Amino acid sequence: MKNVNELTPEEAADELRRIAAEMAKSDIAYYQNDDPYLTDSQYDELKRRNEEIEKRFPGLIRPDSPSHRVGAAVKSGFAKITHRFPMLSLGDVFSMEEVDDFIMSVKRFLNTADMPAFMAEPKIDGLSFAARYEKGRFVSGATRGDGTVGEDITANLKTIRQLPLVIPGNVPDILEIRGEVYMSKADFFALNEKYAAENKKTFANPRNAAAGSLRQLDSKITAERKLSIFAYTWGEVSERVWKSQADFFEHLKAWGFPTNPLNKLCLSLNDIEENFKRLMEIRASLPYDIDGIVYKVNDIALQERLGFLTRTPRWAIAHKFPAEQALTKINAIRIQVGRTGALTPVADLEPVNVGGVIVSHATLHNEDEIKRKDIRVGDTVVIQRAGDVIPQVVKVLPEKRPADSTEFEFPHVCPQCGAHAIREEDEAVRRCTGGLSCPAQAIERIIHFVSRDAFDIAGLGNKIVEEFYHEGILKNPADIFTLEKRNQALREDLFAALDDGKIHLEAREGWGKKSVDNLFKAINDKRRISLPRFIYALGIRQVGTATSLLLAKNYGSFNRFMDDMKNKETAKLVAIDGIGPSMATDIVEFFQERHNLNIIDKLLAEITVEDYIDDTDYDSPIAGKTVVFTGTLQRMTRSEAKAKAQSLGAKVAGSVSKNTDYVIVGADAGSKAAKAAELGVNTLSEEEFLNLIG
Ligand code: IVH
Repeated sequence: MKNVNELTPEEAADELRRIAAEMAKSDIAYYQNDDPYLTDSQYDELKRRNEEIEKRFPGLIRPDSPSHRVGAAVKSGFAKITHRFPMLSLGDVFSMEEVDDFIMSVKRFLNTADMPAFMAEPKIDGLSFAARYEKGRFVSGATRGDGTVGEDITANLKTIRQLPLVIPGNVPDILEIRGEVYMSKADFFALNEKYAAENKKTFANPRNAAAGSLRQLDSKITAERKLSIFAYTWGEVSERVWKSQADFFEHLKAWGFPTNPLNKLCLSLNDIEENFKRLMEIRASLPYDIDGIVYKVNDIALQERLGFLTRTPRWAIAHKFPAEQALTKINAIRIQVGRTGALTPVADLEPVNVGGVIVSHATLHNEDEIKRKDIRVGDTVVIQRAGDVIPQVVKVLPEKRPADSTEFEFPHVCPQCGAHAIREEDEAVRRCTGGLSCPAQAIERIIHFVSRDAFDIAGLGNKIVEEFYHEGILKNPADIFTLEKRNQALREDLFAALDDGKIHLEAREGWGKKSVDNLFKAINDKRRISLPRFIYALGIRQVGTATSLLLAKNYGSFNRFMDDMKNKETAKLVAIDGIGPSMATDIVEFFQERHNLNIIDKLLAEITVEDYIDDTDYDSPIAGKTVVFTGTLQRMTRSEAKAKAQSLGAKVAGSVSKNTDYVIVGADAGSKAAKAAELGVNTLSEEEFLNLIG
């Protein structure tokens, strides 16, 4: 072999090409087929020669060079990447009956009697990634993040050898491949063993190890950890050249992406059940963790008809394996007070290993649940965990109960503030009546306000919020945005501040200028916020992320929403598909509280809430219109029609009023059609409706 110093540029380019190809081939043999053909030293020799040549001819470094796999450190945090198509999650089911229900709902939506084919894929317990290719070259990669915005992990993904850096052959110009990054059980055990020997903290399970390894600012560390991937879906593509999920997997394989060998096309409920049983049996012996099976409608034309709910597709579901159980003892029962004053009993357990995770707490849900199961301090209990949910107590073993045990008495006063805790009729929870004078509620409310789906202020962790609350620095969410100003004043008038017993943040133990600056930056970055996040952040009872989005879509601006709520326009709320009377009452009541309005005023003086711009088609003739469907439709199902109208910017209401723009009348329509005629509202036949929307 020629000395590197003697190579001509042409020879060097040639050799770099040869080495890249050889190492890619060897990576596939090693990482995907488990059938290595180069020895470690042969492999290292290629790597070394590649580095030497690149050092002499940096202009010749190839996009698929193995040297990209080594990683490098970035200085500050991860950059953000906005997903062109959101990365959704899946609905969960836990039994064959529920799988059957899901299939029925798919058939109903499609108005067909035949069962469509489903691709059944083991659900890998790792974390999802998106990898973007332009003209066949890997250009960027992201984590899922909140589904809309993820973290830029391009450098980290490059270190994963199973991920092609260049896709050979014919590929769409833009191709975003999504899948799961995971750590094999063997690599996980080896890593933990090494860490234990070095007296470092070990990981609780392969999933945590994979997450900790992938989200490293220094991708050299990622490169040292052994991560693997399976590809299973796509994001943005310039041309979708596959017609089914099965067809997509064939393309993935041809392009060099690892796909799970256990993916299986199922044509009947029986196939699905057999497959489930088989995977349950071999689950423990698989080289990686799986926590269930994902079923996807195979035909993509059907997937497109089915479309999406707020956060999950209608065409796929996750069938989770049954929960893992263990025996342990209850050491104490504590009562937690939440943001809305709900008292939640929690069991402190003798720590126990449940399916690879150490569990030391379990939720006891509420008063009735404790009574029903007669759960007592000192009891030996069966606990279980399923997926990410908080562990639960399944049952008590009465034969192991100590002789002196007494029934648990649920407190009637708040353990945090001493106020009465009352239980409304037909409510399961007992609530503290202390409102925001109860520290627990006030603190939980601030914690909710800064949480990931709300203002997402990472610098304000639970511990800090608690400390700041007790020291009077943060009494409510509005105080967050005046913190910097107040701190500045303290800094400038140190003596007055000291008289007052207050110190500026920089002088706190363990804090310095840098951490204070970082905190203010994190806060100031959030002075503009989207409408759905803002509504969610308010912490209105029953209003989660999905409802917040629904409200944002329907009202468009915060002022419009708040004006209606102050005027107690409950009827308008209930007219929104997805909002029931009890939720509407909670929302309106929230805006009747002086204290809440006060905080909102103070907030709005400091921040900007963006109007909601829907990505639905606003040029359509029914955009902004309120439509009602009634009777039986012939060409599509009711759900399909509703989803279609919504995607064209229309609001779909359940009943006809003078605010209704169109009533679409199917066969055998009843009172709604009559009501439309009475109010003089436009009615359309199904045919006319389809013509209108084109
Ligand atoms: S498909 C819209 N397929 O499960 C479809 N997800 O609960 C989105 N996952 O965030 C995902 N294996 O992290 C899909 N074969 C598979 C999967 C899978 C694991 C994870 C993924 C996703 C979560 C959904």
